[in-house]
Amino acid sequence: MKGIILAGGTGSRLAPLTNVVCKQLLPVFDKPLVYYPLSVLMLAGIRDILIITTSRDKAAFASLFKDGSQLGLNIQYEVQESPKGIPEAFIIGEKFIAGSPVCLILGDNIFYGEGLPLYLQNIATLKEGACLFGYYVKDPSRYGVAELDSAGKVKSIEEKPQKPKSHYAVTGLYFYDNQVVSLAKTLKPSKRGELEISDLNCLYLEKAQLRLEVMGRGIAWLDTGTHESLHDASKFVEVIESRQGLKIACVEEIAFLLNYISRDAFIELIEEYPQSQYRSYLESILMREFA
Ligand code: G1P
Repeated sequence: MKGIILAGGTGSRLAPLTNVVCKQLLPVFDKPLVYYPLSVLMLAGIRDILIITTSRDKAAFASLFKDGSQLGLNIQYEVQESPKGIPEAFIIGEKFIAGSPVCLILGDNIFYGEGLPLYLQNIATLKEGACLFGYYVKDPSRYGVAELDSAGKVKSIEEKPQKPKSHYAVTGLYFYDNQVVSLAKTLKPSKRGELEISDLNCLYLEKAQLRLEVMGRGIAWLDTGTHESLHDASKFVEVIESRQGLKIACVEEIAFLLNYISRDAFIELIEEYPQSQYRSYLESILMREFA
């Protein structure tokens, strides 16, 4: 399973924060937003990763993550010239995907919760069809919305409907089989001029190859599309991290604990950090016992 992080877009709703840097590099408490979706892929066991971003921001991402080998990953970069929609990621990433199943995560989505790694590792074994995640929200009309039957099967998916048929938003985490590139190429732009991820999901639905897993209320799915929600995400991370003294989405820690890198390589990573609270945290991991 390969992974794509889509970190394109103009981030215009967050201006002036995004005037010179993209949204996915903005801070969420103590680390850039993109660390959170990257950590989700890593925890799912996905180590071949393509980051798609704008031509303006590509160099910044490449300077942050390099080729990924310091984290035991293979990270590549591609550019989405203009925001032509989420499914364009599969067309841009065709060579990288190279006929394998692929997981796409939107670069501004944060997932957090007990049991998430194992749950995602199981789904990452997907070979056929598509798997989406539904999450109960108060305001579904801001999202793709899935209508479910009494057995929990998807009946319909609509993008930002004015009259949503359920409270289940489709999150920005998607698993697809190797049909995804050719299906994405058949899509036509919607009224707003973009290829729509909900249209791609409807193609899988028509083939009866779409599965939706409901993410329960014990999982936090946060989005960061407005100043308020970005700030809320920071507060959420701060509250948990301050209480536990454990970090969320610390990609260096994850690489070490999942044995993606050796102890020596982890120490090298620590040494690259200047003296800081983040470095002290990484140092503490070497001494910590986990139950
Ligand atoms: C996109 C998708 C939408 C999905 C959402 C999740 O919306 O189009 O279907 O529910 O991401 O974050 P956007 O954030 O681009 O408005």
